[in-house]
Amino acid sequence: MAETSLSPSDLVAPLFVAEGRDDVRPITSLPGHFQHTLESLTTEVRALQAAGVGGVILFGVPQQKDELGSGAFDDNGIVQVALRSLRDEFGDDLVVMADLCLDEYTSHGHCGVLRADGAVDNDATLDLYGRAAVAQARAGAAVVAPSGMMDGQVGVIREALDAEGFSDTVVMAYAAKYASALYGPFREAVGVEIANGGDRRSYQQDYRNRRESWREARLDVDEGADIVMVKPAMTYLDVLSDLRREVDVPLCAYHVSGEYSMIKAAAANGWIDGDAVAIEQLTAVRRAGADFVLTYFAREVAEALNS
Ligand code: PBG
Repeated sequence: MAETSLSPSDLVAPLFVAEGRDDVRPITSLPGHFQHTLESLTTEVRALQAAGVGGVILFGVPQQKDELGSGAFDDNGIVQVALRSLRDEFGDDLVVMADLCLDEYTSHGHCGVLRADGAVDNDATLDLYGRAAVAQARAGAAVVAPSGMMDGQVGVIREALDAEGFSDTVVMAYAAKYASALYGPFREAVGVEIANGGDRRSYQQDYRNRRESWREARLDVDEGADIVMVKPAMTYLDVLSDLRREVDVPLCAYHVSGEYSMIKAAAANGWIDGDAVAIEQLTAVRRAGADFVLTYFAREVAEALNS
């Protein structure tokens, strides 16, 4: 009679792939996660698939960064290369998603390009997002996931994809993405440091705001989003629950790096039962209204659920 279920296919695993390396590097603050090589990425995806995980979402760690974040839209950028390799290996057997943003590729660490005064230039960034979406779709991404929170990003990406014949490519919008202190371990994972002690508060949401997320999600759906996301997860269950009523497209949540690391650290100290807490939290996210969850626990929890 339980009202909510959690199964491996409800989970999407974030994965990091590094360019031009032949060693697999552990990410200290995300125990059990690595900056993968193309080879170790394939091995990991095979294990995720065997565990019944629904999909993966790729993040790139480039060798070079520049002002424009060119690696994000270059056909030979690391994520595009990895997408082609997974596509060849797995075809349509699991859903391969690509995070779409510039921050891993920009020298200054912002999610967009900068104006002369150092502020993020929303509209100049949109053009590059359109190019990144097409490069990712061409490389085989079934889903592109814009995470930069620029105004108008979903509309521009949808239009760019359609113009190049990728009308079947799904746009999963990070719709309500808060400027959160919980992204710390992720920034270690991708080697991103925001220049001059900056932050993302000019484009990500203020965590004091709830209604703003309704407007953000509605705008994204109007612009053509196929799926909308709330991020982070546990501190925004109210927002998830609101959006479940507000929009009728599939809804997901991102249980982010800091949420994972907190559980891992406490479990390593023997203070909590890590798997039990992870399953409780992910189930709560489903209960609040998410159809699926992006989580660093994907493999571990899927294997626990299967055993
Ligand atoms: C931005 C992006 C971030 C995350 C996913 N996409 C970092 C940020 O906004 O600073 C964070 C994910 C996590 O913490 O797990 N491209």
